[in-house]
Amino acid sequence: MKKTIVALFIIALYGSVLAGSVLNSKHNLSVSGTGDIKASSETRVCIFCHSSHNTSSEGALWNHETSTGKVKTYERSTMNSKAEQPNGATKLCLSCHDGTIAIGAVKGLPQPIKMNNVGANGEIPLSRKTNVGLDLTGTHPVSVKYEQSLALADSHLKWPPQDPEKVVGTDADGYVQCTACHDPHDDSKSDRYPFWNKTTFDAVCVTCHSY
Ligand code: HEC
Ligand code: HEC
Ligand code: HEC
Ligand code: HEC
Repeated sequence: MKKTIVALFIIALYGSVLAGSVLNSKHNLSVSGTGDIKASSETRVCIFCHSSHNTSSEGALWNHETSTGKVKTYERSTMNSKAEQPNGATKLCLSCHDGTIAIGAVKGLPQPIKMNNVGANGEIPLSRKTNVGLDLTGTHPVSVKYEQSLALADSHLKWPPQDPEKVVGTDADGYVQCTACHDPHDDSKSDRYPFWNKTTFDAVCVTCHSY
């Protein structure tokens, strides 16, 4: 039942997601994609991440094999919170960006979709900055639960997160994920920051931080 609703939701949103710029972005991994990592013949765009059937329990009708890699989480003595092992959307992003899984490894296919310019096992090549790897100590903390007690203990955090446009924030379970800053469907809002949620850098940060 829930799956059917999500499927209808995906169809309803299809137009708006396409109107954003997944087609004109490096996340168009089909043969018509704009980056050099793209399929040799597959024409479907959404299939690399979603399908209406055969999907995993990870959410968003997820169609990609997900990583089981254990990451080194962000830790600093100044942190009041604790970054957990990847969950939510972060886990979905890392299913390609940790570099351990083939880009074309979608569910229900005996062989991954054939891709150009990938590593020996079909992954994002290690030489690229986009291969984030399993060491997240240099990335903003993700899979961090953002709670009122955390915000109150840190004079630089706002409670609750405040974005008048309701684009930036935590996920439905209250976690800060990769998607706090990045929109995987739209690379057109900022010409400086990739897949950025807002037109400027600061507009993202001030949702949660005060300086
Ligand atoms: C490179 C991966 C990727 C591709 C390609 C992609 N999506 Fe997504 N999509 C995601 C992720 C990740 C989420 C979960 C976002 C979240 O939890 O905030 C998502 C969520 C969604 C949702 C749920 C609502 C939302 O925005 O959170 C819809 C609807 C959707 N995608 C539609 C599409 C359609 C239609 C296409 C093809 C035109 C597409 N997506 C292509 C990664 C992708
Ligand atoms: C199905 C595989 C896949 C998934 C899932 C995926 N990506 Fe990507 N992403 C790619 C590929 C391939 C590229 C292009 C890499 C390159 O050209 O070096 C890319 C590029 C990027 C870039 C850099 C764009 C640029 O112009 O340099 C960002 C930022 C990014 N992805 C963020 C995300 C985030 C955040 C998520 C989760 C919400 C996500 N990706 C999910 C495959 C994926
Ligand atoms: C607090 C905001 C923020 C969060 C959270 C975040 N990123 Fe980024 N990301 C950035 C910024 C800013 C850049 C551009 C870096 C630059 O231009 O030097 C970037 C760049 C990237 C790139 C392009 C390669 C590079 O290093 O320039 C990828 C891929 C990427 N991010 C993926 C992810 C993934 C996957 C996650 C979750 C594990 C994530 N990001 C979480 C802000 C964020
Ligand atoms: C959705 C909320 C959210 C957004 C958006 C966000 N952050 Fe954060 N940020 C947090 C949380 C939560 C922490 C963990 C704070 C703690 O535990 O002390 C954090 C931690 C940090 C830290 C590390 C602090 C430390 O003690 O090591 C820095 C630096 C930072 N954020 C900068 C940024 C920048 C720059 C941006 C915008 C590009 C940004 N953040 C966007 C919620 C957010």
